[in-house]
Amino acid sequence: MSGISVAFGGVSALSDVSLTVEPGQVHGLIGPNGAGKTTLFNVACGLVRPSAGRITWRGRELRRLRPSQLSKLGISRTLQGVGLFAGLTVLENVMVGAHRHAKAGFVSALLALPTADKDDRLLRERAHAALAELDAEGYADRYPGSLPYPVQKRVALARALVADPDLLLLDEPASGLSEDEMHELGELIRSLSARMSVLLVEHHMDLVMRVCDRITVLDSGEQIAAGTPAEVQADPLVTEAYLGDAVDVEADAAELARTDGGTHA
Ligand SMILES: Nc1ncnc2c1ncn2[C@@H]1O[C@H](COP(=O)(O)OP(=O)(O)OP(=O)(O)O)[C@@H](O)[C@H]1O
Ligand SMILES: [Mg+2]
Repeated sequence: MSGISVAFGGVSALSDVSLTVEPGQVHGLIGPNGAGKTTLFNVACGLVRPSAGRITWRGRELRRLRPSQLSKLGISRTLQGVGLFAGLTVLENVMVGAHRHAKAGFVSALLALPTADKDDRLLRERAHAALAELDAEGYADRYPGSLPYPVQKRVALARALVADPDLLLLDEPASGLSEDEMHELGELIRSLSARMSVLLVEHHMDLVMRVCDRITVLDSGEQIAAGTPAEVQADPLVTEAYLGDAVDVEADAAELARTDGGTHA
């Protein structure tokens, strides 16, 4: 993405931001709350149309990118939150993600049309394999709503991976995870880079620093730094942006302590 600008109702959310995810690299996108990370992510997904800038994928400019084109382009994503289909089982949810590999099967199955059984069986196998990779195969027949949040997040990741993408877009995959789960996620993302490129939007700094090859830092819609984890960590502009954030967090904590008296201690 180069020179990307986005405005919502006249308010600038992104201004002249450029970011390139290199083949086989994990690229982190960080910044304080409201920095514009999800907006840039949504531009990459075709969910938000930029008012300026270009998106290029494998040397070809994507004009008027739409989310429905992503899977054909070899791009998968998980969104901030979970976004599984409540009315489909875990296995079916993952099968939806694999549909670019199906000729007829699953979509016609959903519509109760006569299906190609072989396609359907292949899709099922792929979906089972993706769930197994995420240690979630035991939940195949469950409905997402009945599962703990971290398991739902793993299923959403399986759904993105089952398409065997060349680029994986992840918006806050670690939110709501425990330290251990986050560590496992980090290992997984690292191992994925052998098969695909990853764009990782994430708040957890230790995770980002551990798994990313390169990092872009946004603050108030502007790109304030870019480089290796070490370069970004040493950048005073980044410290300043996060210090502002940290002060806010402390103020929030103080406010919380005043209102509920820290009763959870
Ligand atoms: N659909 C929208 N309409 C209007 N303003 C929006 C919209 N989406 C985002 N914004 C605004 O754009 C700015 C960037 O928001 P964005 O969600 O991209 O930030 P973020 O870095 O992802 O934040 P967070 O860390 O909280 O997820 C914010 O000021 C936000 O209020
Ligand atoms: Mg966001």
